[in-house]
Amino acid sequence: MRVLSVASECVPLVKTGGLADVAGALPAALAGQGVEMRVLLPGYPAVMAAQAQARVLRDIPDLFGGPARILRGALGRGVLHVLDAPHLFDRPGGIYLGPDGRDWPDNPQRFAALCRAAALIAAEGAGGWRPQVLHLHDWQAGLTPVYLREAGVADVRTLLTIHNIAFQGLAPAHMLSTLRLPAGLFNPQGIEYWGRISALKAGIVLADQVSTVSPTYAEELMTPEYGMGLEGVLADRAADFTGILNGIDLDAWRPPYDAPAGKAPHRAALRAELGLPEAQGPLCVVVSRLTGQKGLDLLIEALPALLRCGGQLAVLGTGDPDLEAALSRAAAGHPGVALRLGYDEALSRRMIAGGDAILVPSRFEPCGLTQLYGLRFGTLPLVALTGGLADTVINASAAGLAAGVATGLQFHPVDAAALAHALTRLCALWRQPAAWQRMMANAMAHPVGWDASARAYAQLFRQMAG
Ligand code: ADP
Ligand code: GLC
Repeated sequence: MRVLSVASECVPLVKTGGLADVAGALPAALAGQGVEMRVLLPGYPAVMAAQAQARVLRDIPDLFGGPARILRGALGRGVLHVLDAPHLFDRPGGIYLGPDGRDWPDNPQRFAALCRAAALIAAEGAGGWRPQVLHLHDWQAGLTPVYLREAGVADVRTLLTIHNIAFQGLAPAHMLSTLRLPAGLFNPQGIEYWGRISALKAGIVLADQVSTVSPTYAEELMTPEYGMGLEGVLADRAADFTGILNGIDLDAWRPPYDAPAGKAPHRAALRAELGLPEAQGPLCVVVSRLTGQKGLDLLIEALPALLRCGGQLAVLGTGDPDLEAALSRAAAGHPGVALRLGYDEALSRRMIAGGDAILVPSRFEPCGLTQLYGLRFGTLPLVALTGGLADTVINASAAGLAAGVATGLQFHPVDAAALAHALTRLCALWRQPAAWQRMMANAMAHPVGWDASARAYAQLFRQMAG
């Protein structure tokens, strides 16, 4: 079974969020299921620098205003294809945002180019290898089914996976011809979204199958509360729409201890590193992009409840300037709050190892990965009851505790009052060492790897390929 995964980011080469972890982990997870998955990535500077040995497989004389090439490089033990197109990808700054913090103005062309390269590989193969299925991730890969049709490729199936409906890849209608999209598809049943081109909608409408990264988010996406205008389009595809939960790479995320008691030195080291005093309450950590999605404004509002019961908070994140400023004020105002602004993979691991609890108060969360790290590390997740957070944590309700199965805490509705209440519950549990240890052990034993989901993807790919 041959699958080409088309993604705009992929660990260990380039990452802004969980999509990169998933794209990077799937090839190895699927290898055990008899699926050969290759990845196609844009040739950003970081990708090109790591692929100095790559071979050129195909020249494309003109791809949206400049020459491009399809390369064959390596990704771990697998094969990576790179779309080398310097006029689109060889530039400093972020992979999506320019130095001014705004989307690169030519993002529509940049990711349409990725889709055309994917369609080209589907049509012609790459160095003799031709995929049976294209696994398309998010809006950046969403136009691929359109270009497949245009190229007359009928024997390659497509799966679109939605990692986040908030990013829809909108472009003005006048770009239809620039992007070489057929005008006949520009209607509400096709790729039009309120007068604009939507790359994500194109993928939803035209891919053979659609998935998202948790069963609960799949249900939520078909409702107006979460669908962000695409709920009807998704409901129309309900028969071909599933949720497959993300896993984490168990080798990459291995706790430096194998029993709950092993956490103590890591907690002490983290307090020392962050300048937090000893405390009579749980040390809570957050590792997150700082955006409205993640609900950290609610956490700032609920923070007094945590501090009142002796708890502490350590946040690692970067993003929205207003949230950064509000968190800075909270940290300056209380010795029990520490903040590190920035992106720091090594520190994120020390925080997850040293924390007692990890907080994920998201307003919506397609899957979420940090609560999974928390489970594996016995760092109890306290999460909003939404999306993948609802599917991965077993709430310490009276029943959950009585049955001895709880792995964390969930709160609902997703507002500051319910979060404050949950933080108080967390502190109360922390004062019951036997219950807390039991939850840590449950959490550490909870399956968070790729096994079950890799099987689900493999089965879906096989069914699609017929
Ligand atoms: P999202 O993709 O919406 O950002 P996820 O929870 O799926 O949310 O994935 C986020 C990933 O990015 C996790 O691997 C998390 O550890 C990582 N991450 C987020 N912010 C930071 C940061 N400031 N430093 C290090 N890692 C971070
Ligand atoms: C998105 C979502 C996150 C999910 C990740 C990987 O960025 O926000 O919930 O875990 O994609 O699928």
